[in-house]
Amino acid sequence: MEEKIYSIDPVTEELARKAEKEGIETLWDRKKVMKTPCGFGEQGLCCRICAMGPCRISPTEGKGAQKGICGATADVIIARNLARMIAAGTATHSDHGRDIAHVLHMAKRDGNYKITDEKKLLNLAKEWEVEIENRDIYDIAHEVAEIALNEFGKPFGTLRFLERAPEQRKSVWEKNDIRTGAIDKEIATIMHSTHIGCCADAKDLVHKGMRASLADGWGGSMIGTEFSDILFGVPVPRETEANLGVLEEDQVNIIVHGHEPSLSEMMVLAAEDPELLQLAKEVGAKGINLSGMCCTANEVTMRHGVKIAGNLNQQELAVLTGAVEAIIVDVQCIFPALAPLTKCYHTKFITTSPKAKITGATHMEFEEEKALQSAKEIVREAVLNFKNRDTKKVFIPKTKSHAVVGYSVEAIKSQLDRVVNSQLDEGGTLKPLADCIASGVIRGAAGVVGCNNPKVKHDYGHVELMKELIKNDVIVVTTGCAAQAAAKAGLMSKEARKLAGKGLAKVCELVDIPPVLHMGSCVDISRILVLVSELAKLLKVDISDLPVVGAAPEWMSEKAIAIGTYVVTSGIDTWLGVVPPVTGSDIIVDILTNKAEDIVGAKFHVEPDPHKAAQQMIERIEEKREALGLAT
Ligand code: SF4
Ligand code: FE2
Repeated sequence: MEEKIYSIDPVTEELARKAEKEGIETLWDRKKVMKTPCGFGEQGLCCRICAMGPCRISPTEGKGAQKGICGATADVIIARNLARMIAAGTATHSDHGRDIAHVLHMAKRDGNYKITDEKKLLNLAKEWEVEIENRDIYDIAHEVAEIALNEFGKPFGTLRFLERAPEQRKSVWEKNDIRTGAIDKEIATIMHSTHIGCCADAKDLVHKGMRASLADGWGGSMIGTEFSDILFGVPVPRETEANLGVLEEDQVNIIVHGHEPSLSEMMVLAAEDPELLQLAKEVGAKGINLSGMCCTANEVTMRHGVKIAGNLNQQELAVLTGAVEAIIVDVQCIFPALAPLTKCYHTKFITTSPKAKITGATHMEFEEEKALQSAKEIVREAVLNFKNRDTKKVFIPKTKSHAVVGYSVEAIKSQLDRVVNSQLDEGGTLKPLADCIASGVIRGAAGVVGCNNPKVKHDYGHVELMKELIKNDVIVVTTGCAAQAAAKAGLMSKEARKLAGKGLAKVCELVDIPPVLHMGSCVDISRILVLVSELAKLLKVDISDLPVVGAAPEWMSEKAIAIGTYVVTSGIDTWLGVVPPVTGSDIIVDILTNKAEDIVGAKFHVEPDPHKAAQQMIERIEEKREALGLAT
């Protein structure tokens, strides 16, 4: 077999070859044209914050410019750039959370958006001390939504969800002044402090970044997850399939791509509409086949079992199959390259969000007030496009993998109930998992998350890291494009137990779970925060004491930088497979990979080789076990 160049995934390789044959450019071609990345940018040594610059600092000490025109040092420039990346990532996840809170605020009994999980809503209402007795559930929902919306701009106080952390963690945040205030305020403060002539203290800028990052994980992202569950249902385990082989030759193929479930949930309903199904028959198709890409795929597969077409690096390849009638997008991780690419095929590229218009795409604004109607109009466009498919250009790869997805914290607890002795223990807790970790049957847990990045062979970082971890009895939880890599590689099937170490395989069998658990989209990393907080409380320790680690082997976005920072600030060591643009400053590198541990009990590690990273993560887990006096 030909050597795989771009990806460990055979489907990706096949379609990349089709692209070459047809003279179609993909991200890998553009990366080649880019040649060597700019050395200044790579190390973070470039500043273009004001018009006296741009300024770039020589990486060699004593040679060339050592300061910007304003006098900013390399440390300050890099710290400002890093803080801005964190602010951008936090803004992105949080604006998603805000949108979902608005949707809950407009939910009505006879509307398009309804409350699906009353229990989750009532629990949150109690947590936030909202009156629930003798009140209409929708009145409660609207009050809870309003409180959430106020989290973005409240003038006083700290974030409500920070209270979910164990007491020890809250003290760490308190002591170090990292308890986050209003979400928008933290983001605005960073934009202000990083303006020319404002904050010029590298250490303080990293500190500000850490505080803002909590507004992502424990703020906007957590609001996104909680409110999506209330509106669309708490995920439960479901069967699905993953990879571009989920496309159907004889059906209208629609791909939903992006992030917010408010659009994709309506698309799921619209694709089942009898009139549109009838229309599909009339145009010669056997049905409508909806599948997902990137985090939108995670949202709809977790709640409906909708099939996963692929992850970030496969978005162009989906169009290259020639079998996709429409690719419908909302926000984030959408390559602008889709616009010229779709012109080479019959595929309609439809943008729906006022926040993400793309030149060359067809914009059909998704109006939440008439959500289902908007979704039906979009599906109709796709169905009518079926007749334009050029069968000579069609190539749908055969490969797809089976996966079980949908492991919300609630779902994990109910799986664990299978091993609870109801005479002795009450169910509905993570205690069996804590017991397995304490006894050493499972050595620890790892969250493997994040994007794809053409700097890493596609999916290689994710899959190799996960395989190595489960082989060593470390249970893996995953979200985002990492989760899709795992699904495609078969790591989310129950048969994957045979790849796990003896202890983990036994637990998976007893509890009936795969060794790699799909916990959702990137905003759902907030589920992992809830999981580790509950585990820490059960073991009566801080999160940073747990034998738990995190990794983003193929990260690429500002969102990932924000996530990595809030995971570390929450007390979890995090491994990055791609070097962040900070290496031009010894001070920043030292804070991130060393001193952060003295402040928040965790730090970043950078290791591009997933096998080495796995070994380091396992060693760290064992160190934590030893410190806790857990079984060796
Ligand atoms: Fe140059 Fe300072 Fe302006 Fe940055 S802020 S571009 S370092 S003068
Ligand atoms: Fe994502």
